[in-house]
Amino acid sequence: MDHNNSETKDTLVQILSPQRLRGKVAVITGGARGIGAATARVFAENGAHVVIADILNEVGTSLAESIGGRYVRCDVSKEEEVDSAVKVAVEWKGRLDIMFNNAGIAGFGGSITNIKMDQMMTLLAINLHGVVHGIKHAARTMIAGKRGGTIICSSSSAAIMGGLASHSYTMSKEAILGLARSTACELGVHGIRVNCISPHGVPSEMLVSEFQKFLGNTELRPNEVSSIVGERGSLLRGRGGRLEDVAQAVLFLASDESGFVTGHNLVIDGGYTSAFSQMSFIYND
Ligand SMILES: NC(=O)c1ccc[n+]([C@@H]2O[C@H](COP(=O)([O-])OP(=O)(O)OC[C@H]3O[C@@H](n4cnc5c(N)ncnc54)[C@H](O)[C@@H]3O)[C@@H](O)[C@H]2O)c1
Repeated sequence: MDHNNSETKDTLVQILSPQRLRGKVAVITGGARGIGAATARVFAENGAHVVIADILNEVGTSLAESIGGRYVRCDVSKEEEVDSAVKVAVEWKGRLDIMFNNAGIAGFGGSITNIKMDQMMTLLAINLHGVVHGIKHAARTMIAGKRGGTIICSSSSAAIMGGLASHSYTMSKEAILGLARSTACELGVHGIRVNCISPHGVPSEMLVSEFQKFLGNTELRPNEVSSIVGERGSLLRGRGGRLEDVAQAVLFLASDESGFVTGHNLVIDGGYTSAFSQMSFIYND
């Protein structure tokens, strides 16, 4: 067999690929880049039909074309646009099985004594209301479809530990955990699972630009951010998080393999939020 032949390779990939989401239909908000884009690729490799809902039209369209998916412009802070994104999936493939409420922004830092309420409301409109819109419209469609479904929401390590992000961002991510638990409670009777992921320190465009700001170094690259996280923000010394680590966790929650998991927060942080690593010398003999 000629392994350099691209057709042969494609066939091999198809045969060997576990296709854990074969035929499933997914909407990914914020799917044009970063964690959302990595997840869109992994979903497509696993046989899903993916609708990318974002505000970055050019990159979103090009990614959708490359994975045989669809792109729809959707600002998640606007309920009607999230409703439309879900409708694109239903009009395209007749169903919705997976909703990944991933769109988010880092927001605005600074002291609580100077917090600007208009900036806070802007952040909440995207990070929190966006997730409410996503769960609401996905749930309506999934309930009507009577096939159940799985909804995954992006929280953050910042929901578990203080001091990792701005007050507004932290608040939005903590609220998402509560919302996911309460909606998991309501939607379980329809066979709809609702879970969260909480990534930490994954070098997306968002994180890299935050590090550039904090460290005053606009030249900082994703691999350098990953190294800093690996050394200081992970129990697995030297091993920082990758976009694909998060995509694989979302794949698990999207697939039937997590069929008995709901109301859960899957933390993807190299153990960072579980331990005070500075004291690990106490384990020395
Ligand atoms: N990168 C990390 O380490 C990390 C850690 C914890 C949580 N998260 C969360 O993961 C999610 C994805 O972030 P990322 O790190 O990939 O960042 P990113 O900036 O690379 O990607 C965010 C995506 O959301 C889109 N988006 C922003 N505002 C939108 C809006 N109003 N409507 C629709 N789309 C919008 C952006 O265009 C972009 O495609 C976010 O919710 C973020 O808070 C990331």
